[in-house]
Amino acid sequence: MKRPFEVDSEYPFKDHWLPYHDGYIHYIDEGQGPTVLLLHGNPTWSYLYRNVIKELHNDYRLIALDYPGFGMSKAPSHYGFTPQEHSEAVLDFIYRLDLKNFVLVVQDWGGPIGLNYAVRHRENLCGIVVMNSWAWPATLLPMKIFSLVMGGWPLGYWLQTHHNFFAKNIVPQGIYHSEKVTESLRKAYTDPFPTLKSRIPTWIFPRQIRKARSWLAEIESKLPALSDLPAQILWGTKDSAGFPPEEMAKWQRYLQMNETESLSDASHYVQEDRPDRVAASIRRVLERTS
Ligand code: BEZ
Repeated sequence: MKRPFEVDSEYPFKDHWLPYHDGYIHYIDEGQGPTVLLLHGNPTWSYLYRNVIKELHNDYRLIALDYPGFGMSKAPSHYGFTPQEHSEAVLDFIYRLDLKNFVLVVQDWGGPIGLNYAVRHRENLCGIVVMNSWAWPATLLPMKIFSLVMGGWPLGYWLQTHHNFFAKNIVPQGIYHSEKVTESLRKAYTDPFPTLKSRIPTWIFPRQIRKARSWLAEIESKLPALSDLPAQILWGTKDSAGFPPEEMAKWQRYLQMNETESLSDASHYVQEDRPDRVAASIRRVLERTS
């Protein structure tokens, strides 16, 4: 299959394509050894993990997929781009690749999408790395306002579809090290969304902060199942998307076997700001389990 857009040399990986209904899931699968599954959020894709993969591919098997409608994946007909559907796609992916006893790595919407799997299949995980994310209904006012504006109608819809606002503005703002925001990075995050229609999934995600409340509450009710799971929490404290230390503390309460590292020079997209520490967290959680 041909890439739908070109990517810079920073992403030198072999493409894999897994049919998914009448669409397909694009993913990369690099290296050999203990398996690590890397989940992205809005509006990113497997590109987000390129520098983490480069640091670790000699020692581990690193798998990063793009959710349908994101990156290079193509959504099946009638796909609604909700986190529930992405989570089903991830479940199907794990099952079809026969991934066993792996480390789950999550950030942003990767949190709810991945944790929905984790709370039901604790026995198939050997560890977890959590970056700026959540797995519960929004309680903080800034998050609710963010959802109302960015996922609202008509302003949020117009901003996302006509201006590719998430990819063009929120991603660069969510990277603390502004020198890392190069033209090729901007292009890698905007190119997956060339048309108004292709940008709708980036509007659905913030909308779902409100719409998926009961799904998120159900995940939260099952989080105690992960109290014995070795966990690394890696938190960018300069998060421009409004994830304060209270959210990190909540993860610490649920993931009782956690070791936590706060990063004063990382914003929301921790993988862009500090891929070295993301790689170190993955190494550490695997050391703790071996
Ligand atoms: C969202 O797309 O819903 C989102 C993105 C960044 C932070 C919080 C929420």
